[in-house]
Amino acid sequence: MKPLDITALETATRMALAGGHRLLQTHKLSANDESHAWYLLKAMQPPEGAMILDAGCGIGELSRLMSEKRPDLTFILANLSLMQLELCPVAPQYRRLHADCHDLPVRDEMVDVVMFASAISQMEAKFVLHEAARVLKPGGVVFLAEMVRLGGDAAEFERVTTAHVHTFAELEGYAAAAGLKLDFGFTVDSDDSHFRGLLREIGQEALLDPIRLAIMRFIKG
Ligand SMILES: C[S@@+](CC[C@H](N)C(=O)[O-])C[C@H]1O[C@@H](n2cnc3c(N)ncnc32)[C@H](O)[C@@H]1O
Repeated sequence: MKPLDITALETATRMALAGGHRLLQTHKLSANDESHAWYLLKAMQPPEGAMILDAGCGIGELSRLMSEKRPDLTFILANLSLMQLELCPVAPQYRRLHADCHDLPVRDEMVDVVMFASAISQMEAKFVLHEAARVLKPGGVVFLAEMVRLGGDAAEFERVTTAHVHTFAELEGYAAAAGLKLDFGFTVDSDDSHFRGLLREIGQEALLDPIRLAIMRFIKG
């Protein structure tokens, strides 16, 4: 994978914010951000008082919405983009971490949950899942809300969007190799209209046809 183009990412962030988009996700379960976040939180099932590492946190909006529903949770907001981190919420339950999720400055077995939401396709999935497993307590959870590919050409999708979209089975395999057992996982119909509109502008809308949102919950053995 090409290294993340921070300048392009930060330009895209400014455009998203100008368009009123604070959740920087390709697929949503509801037109309403609160409902989307609540659905993901219910599926994640973090234990009472859990510390969640939000891997590739954007501007921290998903964590902020989850915190509104579950004030007992604390969040480590991990991101390579300083500009996005500066836009993250400031309150005692959030800690900002300027870091690469392939090599987290977090000690072993520290957190209860690592969540990736529209983020793992910008990372090397097999390496970040190992890193997630390392920082998780035994019995901890890795939670994914990520694009998966039912078929189609991963290379062409990556060439156009820079995102590398795996199949469900590939993600499950990388997780298993990291010692993470699938608790449950499924693909779900979701709203990709914003992302679809951007691809339509460049004549590439069809690239999204074999792409679905997958919800996957893994437990560290
Ligand atoms: C599409 S955005 C998703 C943001 C966020 N999860 C949300 O739901 O709004 C992907 C995020 O991953 C971050 N990212 C990409 N590669 C990263 C890496 N290697 N380490 C840390 N963050 C990374 C980007 O800066 C961006 O914040």
